[in-house]
Amino acid sequence: MDHFLYRDGVLHAEDVALPEIAAAVGTPFYVYSTATLERHFKLFDDGLAGLDHLICYAMKANSNQAVLKTLAALGAGMDVVSGGEYLRARAAGVPGERIVFSGVGKTRAEMRLALEGGVRQVNLESEPEMLALSEVAAGMGVVVPVSVRVNPDVDAKTHEKIATGKAENKFGIPISRASDVYAQAARLPGLKVVGIDVHIGSQLTDLAPYEQAFLLVAALTERLRAEGHDIRRLDLGGGLGIPYERSNQAPPLPTEYCDLIRRTVGHLGCEIELEPGRLIAGNAGLMVSSVIYLKSGEDRDFLILDSAMNDLIRPSMYASFHEIVPVAEPAPGIEPRRYDVVGPVCESGDTFARQRLMSPVQAGDLVAFRSAGAYGAVMSSEYNTRALIPEVLVKEDQFAVIRARPTFDEIINRDIIPEWL
Ligand code: LLP
Repeated sequence: MDHFLYRDGVLHAEDVALPEIAAAVGTPFYVYSTATLERHFKLFDDGLAGLDHLICYAMKANSNQAVLKTLAALGAGMDVVSGGEYLRARAAGVPGERIVFSGVGKTRAEMRLALEGGVRQVNLESEPEMLALSEVAAGMGVVVPVSVRVNPDVDAKTHEKIATGKAENKFGIPISRASDVYAQAARLPGLKVVGIDVHIGSQLTDLAPYEQAFLLVAALTERLRAEGHDIRRLDLGGGLGIPYERSNQAPPLPTEYCDLIRRTVGHLGCEIELEPGRLIAGNAGLMVSSVIYLKSGEDRDFLILDSAMNDLIRPSMYASFHEIVPVAEPAPGIEPRRYDVVGPVCESGDTFARQRLMSPVQAGDLVAFRSAGAYGAVMSSEYNTRALIPEVLVKEDQFAVIRARPTFDEIINRDIIPEWL
């Protein structure tokens, strides 16, 4: 459920009509709903009520500081995967004790940054990384809590580019080698083993792979405890999918996922950490664009928008589906039409949807891409010297620009011309 509904014939974000935002900031833009962000966070937080837990929002999904602050105010921790994300979380006021540092290739400089500023735990992904962190921490005279990310070799049954839990993926250490790696971690200075970490992929629409992975983690917890390790935290990653195509998709609900967690690892007495990103931010955001032209091709109609693949890359990158709806509510019974929905960028890959059946629109109309709050703005670029589009946050009847559209001067003046030119 989200808070983007038609009211008086116009699509609203909470109590704000989208044309009002379009008039204020121009198109295209991203708009996020505070109530939806909060609601989604609470689904996890309430879902694990009674179990010691911390929901560490995977801020890679949408890292605007206004979004981070909204969630942090509810008690969220953050899952960060780079020095930049770490600093951004801190800038948004998140204390180090609520930040988990994940990622497959943390540099020593990034490790130092987190150790200086304080970190709840570092999730280690390989032996060389473990040695590096030990050296950095010992050199700074600190002891850092660590979990090791295990790769359970489970098929998450999702898009190949976002599956992470198979042996062929670059993530984690093979679960079969866990005993050796934990023994080594326990011997190294500067590290304190506190838990186990697992994350098998993103946009999972089936609970079975989670069940497989969590049962393996439960068995590993018992084994590592028997080997003398103080396993007190389980970081179970993120990845729960959202219904991009509402008409034919019903991924498991967060409550079902939380019940599975209770069933599979609840008896171990561990503190549970989750790292959801998409489920919190995805359906809390829209991308709103204007139709520039309607063009008739040989055998199809093209809807040419003012947004493009550089603004929302998911359709080109993963062939992913985003619902596209007119901002003016279609009259009941109106005959839908088929369009190829495209942007102005100079490649055929700049296509949001092919032969999409949707309510008819005209040049000048506003359209909204649903489920664009996660992996939308954060993955955008300035390809074709197109300015990054603004982000707007709505709370009830208020809205605020939370990232402004840069001017072309700002963009162009970032280039530095060498002396010899
Ligand atoms: N934890 C770790 C270690 C991750 O690598 C990820 C996502 C998450 C948590 C959060 O997963 P989520 O709950 O958001 O599914 N750009 C792609 C998604 C990439 C996901 C990368 N890792 C997309 O647009 O579909």
